[in-house]
Amino acid sequence: MTANLRAKIPMKKKLIIFMVLLCFALLQKPTTIYSAKALPKTKKFTYDRFVEGKDSTSFEFSGSSSIDQRSLQLTPDNENQENGYNNKSGRIMYHQPYKLWSSDRRNDDVIASFTTNFVINMYRNEAWDRGEGLAFLIAPGYDLPNESHGQWLGLTNATADGDPGNRMVAVEFDTNKQGFDPIGSHVGLNINSVVSSKTVPMEFEPITNHSVWIEYDGESKLMEVYMANDGDHKPEKPVLSEPINLRHYVEQVSYFGFSGSTGDPARQFNCVVRWELEVEDLGSKKDWKGVIIGVSVGFPLLGLVLVLSGIKLRRVYLKRKRAVQDDESNVLGTLKRLPGMPREFKYKDMKRATNNFHEGMILGKGGFGVVYRGVLREDNGRGNEIAVKKFSRDSINSKEDFLAELTIIHRLRHKHLVRLVGM
Ligand SMILES: *[C@@H]1O[C@H](CO)[C@@H](O)[C@H](O)[C@H]1NC(C)=O
Repeated sequence: MTANLRAKIPMKKKLIIFMVLLCFALLQKPTTIYSAKALPKTKKFTYDRFVEGKDSTSFEFSGSSSIDQRSLQLTPDNENQENGYNNKSGRIMYHQPYKLWSSDRRNDDVIASFTTNFVINMYRNEAWDRGEGLAFLIAPGYDLPNESHGQWLGLTNATADGDPGNRMVAVEFDTNKQGFDPIGSHVGLNINSVVSSKTVPMEFEPITNHSVWIEYDGESKLMEVYMANDGDHKPEKPVLSEPINLRHYVEQVSYFGFSGSTGDPARQFNCVVRWELEVEDLGSKKDWKGVIIGVSVGFPLLGLVLVLSGIKLRRVYLKRKRAVQDDESNVLGTLKRLPGMPREFKYKDMKRATNNFHEGMILGKGGFGVVYRGVLREDNGRGNEIAVKKFSRDSINSKEDFLAELTIIHRLRHKHLVRLVGM
């Protein structure tokens, strides 16, 4: 098959044209772009316990943190206390980052939803003063700030606190009242600072495992925190509910994890016994680059043919007048603004070029339709080898979808990818 195709491409033809066809009928059926949103794809992990060695590689540890007693220990515990318990801080971040908002300018507002459930324990010896606490955090990297023990909870320090460059959002479980804390032990929402933007009082039983659910809805941009004793169901009412547009505060690609600290003499264990995290996968559905890469990978045959033939891809500028005149529509308006505007072709010319979209001309099937091989006859009688992608109405929901794909195909420049010449 490959050899055949290769043979059929005349060596002197150095132009490969990638052409995109729009079935104008789909313009008559505008639907919402993400009608599939009810069933988002997600990435999920669950740790019912943490096993040293086996699970260590899935996390990045800093400061006084470790895995011990089948838990994530953010500060020293029984075993891990060579230098004492006091004035320690630590962080444990999941090693893989997540994409939390879309890079697509058209979708300014696409922010990943996530939900997490974890069980924390902040045990203390009765002889100890209570302190300091731990936090669930979203951060740009793994690093623990220097001097982040005591009141800083492993989140910030005296110089970094409040710096918008921290790009950090956290939910703190603070067992000790600081001067800046309005109340005693509490749950708080923290943005770039250990001083919470929202605080609710919370009694943490020193020997009880507390189960925490944090849910973030990327659409309503509401963050909700629920708490119960471990083993109990998630309560109906959140203990904390706060609107926050994460896009404003965290990096597009961020890490999830925990931090904690002890003070002097205030100290306790700060551990996470169980952790489950599920994050909406923006990469698969809304990142159009992902879609296009999917499409191009979908045609390995075409790529192979191009490589084997050693054909250099070149942009064609044809002098022919543009065929379609009804350019009042949005589609054409947008196309006109693309740099090096692609050309428009008549449907009937595409039909002719692909032998009436003949099955024998099919090169592959991608996410949004079928790609045909074709030959485009120019006015001067020359024929150029082209690829024609025909979008199917089932696979593309609206003209915005179509334009998004078109814009990205148009911008892509790669030696193994054919270039867009028109639609
Ligand atoms: C706070 O942390 C940052 C980053 O680790 C560090 O550069 C800075 O020196 C620290 N400030 C103090 C007072 O230690």
